[in-house]
Amino acid sequence: MIDKRLMGEAKKVRLYLALTISLGLCTGLLIVLQATTLASVINAVFLNQQTLVQVWNGLLLLVGVILLRAVVSWLTEVIAQRAAAQIKGALRMQLLQHLLSLGPVHARGERTGELVNLMTEGVEALEDYFARYLPQVALAALIPLLILFFVLPIDLTSGIILLFTAPLIPFFMILIGKWADHLTKKQWDIMSRMSAHFLDVLQGLTTLKIFGRSKDQVRVIARISDDFRKTTLGVLRVAFLSALVLELLSTISTALVAVALGLRLVYDRIPFQEAFFLLLLAPEFYLPLRNLGSQFHAAMAGVNAANRIFEVLGQPLPVPHPTTYGGNVGTTCGRPGHISLQNVNFTYVGTDQPVLQGCSFELLPGQVVALVGPSGAGKTTIAQLLLRFLEPSGGGMAVNGIPLQQLDADEWRSQVAFLPQNPYLFYGTVAENIGMGRPGATLAEIAAAAKLAGADQFINELPQGYQTPVGEGGTRLSGGQAQRVAIARAFLKDAPLIILDEATTGLDPATEELVQEALSRLLRGRTVLLIAHRLSTIYQADHILVLDQGRVVEQGRHEQLLARQGLYHRLVTAYRGELA
Ligand SMILES: Nc1ncnc2c1ncn2[C@@H]1O[C@H](COP(=O)(O)OP(=O)(O)O)[C@@H](O)[C@H]1O
Ligand SMILES: [Mg+2]
Repeated sequence: MIDKRLMGEAKKVRLYLALTISLGLCTGLLIVLQATTLASVINAVFLNQQTLVQVWNGLLLLVGVILLRAVVSWLTEVIAQRAAAQIKGALRMQLLQHLLSLGPVHARGERTGELVNLMTEGVEALEDYFARYLPQVALAALIPLLILFFVLPIDLTSGIILLFTAPLIPFFMILIGKWADHLTKKQWDIMSRMSAHFLDVLQGLTTLKIFGRSKDQVRVIARISDDFRKTTLGVLRVAFLSALVLELLSTISTALVAVALGLRLVYDRIPFQEAFFLLLLAPEFYLPLRNLGSQFHAAMAGVNAANRIFEVLGQPLPVPHPTTYGGNVGTTCGRPGHISLQNVNFTYVGTDQPVLQGCSFELLPGQVVALVGPSGAGKTTIAQLLLRFLEPSGGGMAVNGIPLQQLDADEWRSQVAFLPQNPYLFYGTVAENIGMGRPGATLAEIAAAAKLAGADQFINELPQGYQTPVGEGGTRLSGGQAQRVAIARAFLKDAPLIILDEATTGLDPATEELVQEALSRLLRGRTVLLIAHRLSTIYQADHILVLDQGRVVEQGRHEQLLARQGLYHRLVTAYRGELA
């Protein structure tokens, strides 16, 4: 079972593989040398009545060979581990890079727990494949051949017995493997499901508690764990059975060789030294094949994980649709000032309902443009398009008249600050989290940005001030505090274009006021797209766009829109009703 794509990975460590194979050959030669020496020493002492002094050299050689074998097998191990570590590291990087390029919209669609399981357990499962299974394949192919090469000229009968029994072992291994394959696949699936489910439960703990559903979840997890236990036992049972079969086959085959030799010894048809040499080699002949069998199951887990890894790696990156504009990718647009969307269409992959249909609007330099509309209207989708996490399926987006597709995505993003509803804080200190806005920023710059964001006061009150760890596993910040850290980040980034997606939604009125204050400082003098479901924030916007079902249905200033008595009027009335 040699997986093509995994071998592709292994090519990157070709030197290691070549070394493994050479060491395998060395092992084979040492095995033969050990058997010859041992046979000749025994022969000399027991049949030719030689003294210790006479066989001294033979004994020394034997000790040397045994030591050398230990060194070679240690080297094989070290090299295999190195190669495996290198491949695992490279694959993890590749996975991470690919997930980063796929962007947040994709990660939202995947079950995060499953991805985490893949990055950790999945990649780890490859260790057995590369560090144990592959070197063993080399040994299993080389050593028996080498032994045959020495046995055949000495004794044809033994050679033929070895030759015909050897294929039985791989044959049974494949037979059992086919059966176990389905079980290991199931085991991997269940493990992924379990990880995904645990994460879901942890993330949704509040909701589950409030609705009194945590008991149900405990039951679901208990059921999944039990499934997992059963399949694991199933896999172990097969592994045990195959070990038994392999053991039995190699013992019987060795016995066959021994019986054939014994009979001929009795009738004096073969010299003792030769017979003994052959007898010593017979178990060594089957050993690598047997070991291969026991590595087989570990290898299969690796191949299953690899299937999922390559599936994720194979997911296509979002590509800009062929544009009607000419020009090369990588043009720079200068400071983004004038941004326009013309007839933008967008449909999510795997759905057939278009989310945006002929959406057009403009952002003028220095303007605060608000985008409002009922939930599901496509507001967040527009933000993702502007951030180029998605590419439009039709129509065009341009900055200062240059099509967005022609700009390098990373360079474009360096000009945009994005504030989502729940900004993410990475594990690290507060200073590091703010400093992300501009790599290389000094602590003084970070503190200045925090002050502008109205965050310095609460940060100074944290146990270790700016050095307090936050994020996963660190101090918990409240929603309003996290938002102000994110605003400080944006101040530091000093991007000319700012996109806010419901940045103040979900905050209590007092906190919202603090955040709002910081925001109005941030937005001054910049081009802003302010997405809001709540309407309290948008009265002062220069221009308001009302989005419904993927289309801009109304636009203008607050008073004009109210006067139209249309969707905007209805949204405002509903919002006031909510407040009352
Ligand atoms: N990753 C996705 N895959 C498929 N459909 C999506 C995805 N994200 C959002 N949608 C759908 O697109 C529509 C618009 O979503 P969104 O832009 O988030 O709306 P809004 O931000 O205005 O509430 C919704 O019907 C939503 O169900
Ligand atoms: Mg949204």
